[in-house]
Amino acid sequence: MSTGLILGIESSCDETAAAIVERGARTLSSVVSSQIATHARYGGVVPELASREHLRAILPVVDAALAEANCTLAELDAVAVTAGPGLAGALLVGITFAKSLAFALGKPLIAVNHLEGHIHAVFLNEQQSGRDFANEPALALVVSGGHTHLYSAAPAENSWRYSLLGRTLDDAAGEAFDKVAKLLGLPYPGGPWIDALTPFGNPHAVPFTFAQIKSKPHLVGKTPRTKAAKTAPIAALDPRFLFSFSGIKTAVLRYVELHGLRSHATPEEIAARFHTRPQTREEALLLCPQGVLDLIASFQHAVLGDLLKKTFAAAESIAARTVLVTGGVAANRELRQRFADEAARRSLRVAFPNLALSTDNAAMIAAAAWPKFLAADFAPPTLSAQPALALGI
Ligand code: KG4
Ligand code: ZN
Repeated sequence: MSTGLILGIESSCDETAAAIVERGARTLSSVVSSQIATHARYGGVVPELASREHLRAILPVVDAALAEANCTLAELDAVAVTAGPGLAGALLVGITFAKSLAFALGKPLIAVNHLEGHIHAVFLNEQQSGRDFANEPALALVVSGGHTHLYSAAPAENSWRYSLLGRTLDDAAGEAFDKVAKLLGLPYPGGPWIDALTPFGNPHAVPFTFAQIKSKPHLVGKTPRTKAAKTAPIAALDPRFLFSFSGIKTAVLRYVELHGLRSHATPEEIAARFHTRPQTREEALLLCPQGVLDLIASFQHAVLGDLLKKTFAAAESIAARTVLVTGGVAANRELRQRFADEAARRSLRVAFPNLALSTDNAAMIAAAAWPKFLAADFAPPTLSAQPALALGI
């Protein structure tokens, strides 16, 4: 008899996560073991270290998820795992573990695309808040450290059908946050620090701009230079929905060199001294001079403006009445405010996952697996890591 319980496992980047979700709608447990401390001193994720950390963490994390949900392995309907996109060695840890577990238990294995997981984080959050998205086509922006993708999401029977509308040609938005933070001397990951320091700077101090990306005949049939999902061709995409975040990173670097700007302390000192967000201008000024605060606020203002403009233009192009924003950068407070304001202005509905569901987690993987379980869409025993797995092309 079906219990509706799915164990989700996620290990695509630098979080080892496991969760038990019932019928794709109710989270019984969600455990995330972050490797931030391991990678922080390198200012970014080191793939080899990530794989080793996943190996160390996977069993305790899965055990904790089962214990927290008060659930036994025998009660599971299936084991779901992220198949890609992500770091090959990191993905392999979760996949190998999930395969072995499913085989030993004689239960189905379900492969989930990490990007679809991020979209389902919104559905899960909405369902847990008593709202439902059924039968409503939506525009989804997945914006994280590895991805900046625009999808149309249309309900299809028990499931959703995705179509890629836009994406970044180079860096992901979260990557730009992290790189800019690094060059200013802020700790890794930089997104939450930039979010926290922005209210203390002038967002109009440095006028960063994004040029409209032209359609480039030489790119037809080529694939973008991003780390993840390399397989999506950009030829068919409307240039209005393409992003490029490597330019603003270089512009910030030039500005920093020209004005000699950096934070006051080392990333380690900042991380050690400030466990929470700075609450006052005085606290922010202990971390950075006013020039850095202004630069940070201007950078965030420009990036969010670009995300906002292209997302709502894409929503308009498919006449979507709902906009979903998900992925690590969706945790950003100004992003949520500006997207909510713009949606209200256009009489559209906007939805975000709660903060824990915005960054990488396994509840979103278990939730995305539920429609696949209903459709008996199971993974073969030969399932392997797909580092460049695309969604909806
Ligand atoms: O979804 P996620 O946990 O992992 C990926 O799939 O990449 O996203 C992590 C990214 C990092 O780049 C991090 O700096 C960014 O999300 N991030 C933020 C915030 N919280 C996390 N960026 C801006 N503001 C935030 N509050
Ligand atoms: Zn992610």
